[in-house]
Amino acid sequence: MHAAPLATSEDAGRKAKEESLLSPRFYTTDFAAMDRLDMSPLRAEWDAMLAEYEGDNNHDHFQRTPEFATEVAQRFSQVSPELRQEFIDFLVSSLTSEFSGCILYNEIQKNVSNPDIKSLMRYMARDESRHAGFINQSLRDFGMGIDMGDLKRTKAYTYFKPKYIFYATYLSEKIGYARYITIFRQLERQPDKRFHPIFLWFERWCNDEFRHGESFALIMRAQPHLLRGGNLLWIRFFLLAVYATMYVRDHTRPMLKAAMGLDPTVYDYTVFEITNRITEQVFPISLDIDAPAFRAGLDRLLRIQTAMDAAKARGGLVGNLQRAGWALAGAATFARLYLLPVKRHALPAQVRMAPAW
Ligand SMILES: [Fe+2]
Ligand SMILES: [Fe+2]
Repeated sequence: MHAAPLATSEDAGRKAKEESLLSPRFYTTDFAAMDRLDMSPLRAEWDAMLAEYEGDNNHDHFQRTPEFATEVAQRFSQVSPELRQEFIDFLVSSLTSEFSGCILYNEIQKNVSNPDIKSLMRYMARDESRHAGFINQSLRDFGMGIDMGDLKRTKAYTYFKPKYIFYATYLSEKIGYARYITIFRQLERQPDKRFHPIFLWFERWCNDEFRHGESFALIMRAQPHLLRGGNLLWIRFFLLAVYATMYVRDHTRPMLKAAMGLDPTVYDYTVFEITNRITEQVFPISLDIDAPAFRAGLDRLLRIQTAMDAAKARGGLVGNLQRAGWALAGAATFARLYLLPVKRHALPAQVRMAPAW
């Protein structure tokens, strides 16, 4: 499925800069609008959250133990070349997402004077920089460390209005939590399938992501116009885009999940289920992930993506025409999924939730 295997730092850097529908992006936004955010409607919950960041309960977590290297040497050296490749690909895309958060939060922090937003962004950039740095250490074990300074300077940036940043980033933080905790719980049940020690770090790690998501939940709940009217159409769009991207990407890396004893479809729907339950704190709608038409639509998107990759590999005029055809089919399938009925619910009075999974 993947074109060129990743073998060097340069390959990893190139992969991290890749621009495709499925690869993580870097963002920039309207800093003046960020500066005007008013958190006073949720002052008590907001201040309690900032105090948690200040307490920094994960300050000592992102350090490797002496056993880490031993485990990599003993267990990871046993894995097949294909799994090794998928795992490296997973590390590169995870690092890119973590670093994307780090850059965005840091840029906002530098460009606002609003003390609430400035403190929050500084704390979140701190966390994401630890996360990205920790993943990079594992890439360096394979001689494939990414030059993050170069990535920051040369990867393309996408401009997003603040409200799109809130919808997209909130979702990526919460789905990130759901993904990491689902993997952690699975490997807790079946430790013989933990083929790399990095997964042992996921439990405390994902609590950071959960808290980042809580921050955006409070920001959106304090600006309630973001959560009603025409904005519900945007929320629907982001929910579907994030779920569909994850579904396609996970199914094109099947070995990684199989090695953990996870079926990619079961894994993805477990993650969607957790994410749906969490997002009820902020979104008055959720996707009906159990509807047969929803499930069939995601499978169709996956088949289309697979066919597009084959057409791309084929190249030439025929390959390009085929690709264009599949792109249209993909857009039509996405539109049909978008128009499926959604579930509606009232928002809870208390916004914050505990990471209880
Ligand atoms: Fe992170
Ligand atoms: Fe995060």
